[in-house]
Amino acid sequence: MERATKCIPIPTAKRFVKQCIVAGGAKEVHAQAMADTLIAADHRGHFSHGLNRLEMYVKDIQTGSTVGDGEPVTLKESAATAHVDGKNNLGPVVGNYCMKLAIKKAKECGVGWVVAKGSNHYGIAGFYALQAVEEGLVGFSFTNSTPCLRANRSSSYTLGSNPISCAAPAVADDAFVLDMATSTAAYGRVEINHRKGIPIPNGWGADPNGRETNEPSEVLNGGGLLPLGGAEESGGYKGYGLAMMVEMLCGILGGGAYGPNVRKWGTTSREANLGQCFIALNPDMFCDGFGERMQDLMDSQRNLTPSEKDKPVLVAGDPERMHIKKCEELGGIPYPTNVVDHMNGLAKELGVKPM
Ligand SMILES: NC(=O)c1ccc[n+]([C@@H]2O[C@H](COP(=O)([O-])OP(=O)(O)OC[C@H]3O[C@@H](n4cnc5c(N)ncnc54)[C@H](O)[C@@H]3O)[C@@H](O)[C@H]2O)c1
Repeated sequence: MERATKCIPIPTAKRFVKQCIVAGGAKEVHAQAMADTLIAADHRGHFSHGLNRLEMYVKDIQTGSTVGDGEPVTLKESAATAHVDGKNNLGPVVGNYCMKLAIKKAKECGVGWVVAKGSNHYGIAGFYALQAVEEGLVGFSFTNSTPCLRANRSSSYTLGSNPISCAAPAVADDAFVLDMATSTAAYGRVEINHRKGIPIPNGWGADPNGRETNEPSEVLNGGGLLPLGGAEESGGYKGYGLAMMVEMLCGILGGGAYGPNVRKWGTTSREANLGQCFIALNPDMFCDGFGERMQDLMDSQRNLTPSEKDKPVLVAGDPERMHIKKCEELGGIPYPTNVVDHMNGLAKELGVKPM
């Protein structure tokens, strides 16, 4: 049965998030950065990283475990690189600062590579990679995150679902936008199956002893996620390797927390000190015609004969594009009514106008 939804216009959703974050104690520009990131996630169809995380960010600001009014600082810089201390500001504040710097450097010398420590959860990785695309550049973004994923052969959960995003401009406003966790499925998807009372597919998660399971409650209560690819036999060691690569680019390179040292979800007694990495690359520094060749490559895949009727071949970024189109047709983002009700309960506590 379809769940009841309520369509919220994007400006309303952003106003709501901004006011809740301000009510929590952050300054307006920081709250705006958070609103832009969270609502972009929902708009793109990644509901696991949107409005439903708002309460956690408000709590982080209220308890002072995240700073609501500071500024990131550049510690070390070369023409193409920068090392940034996020100073424990909200993740999107740090992410926007770093990506802006990477874009500036890429325009000046072909590539900009910026690594931060002292950051917080920054939402969807694609939000930052897409900022480079808007400037005609190729963008990459990576973050480490709370330990919830196990190495192959391990029984404990010591790595994050460390996402990778790579976005590349094609012709007009078309773009390749890969934005993915290095776990097979994001944690939020396991929660959704749990709420619906349905098992999870093979390769998603494992129980508290590290054994693969199809039972979402075992994953959520002491278990965790499997790396992209699932079990060792199905290539899960490749996802494990990618999660380690993200740790190297983020926590190790930047000097923030890494691997099992990253704080757990919901912990407010110490700073998250996440590591994040942002790269912008100017394709004009290489062979002419990048956008046209990128478009040709993407279209060559999209135009393939589908193996299943009514399931066209897509390229990364297409599902999100389809969701954005759906939102346009609906006149807003379709949220489950229970999510809207829950958010309005939070708004009441904070003295904010409901959605
Ligand atoms: N901040 C964090 O700590 C954190 C951690 C994990 C994930 N995330 C975010 O969660 C979001 C969801 O991650 P996910 O791995 O569940 O995403 P997903 O599995 O829904 O999609 C991953 C990628 O695959 C592409 N894709 C999906 N179906 C496709 C198809 N049929 N053909 C071609 N391409 C297709 C999508 O466009 C996307 O680029 C991402 O935005 C990610 O950045 C954030």
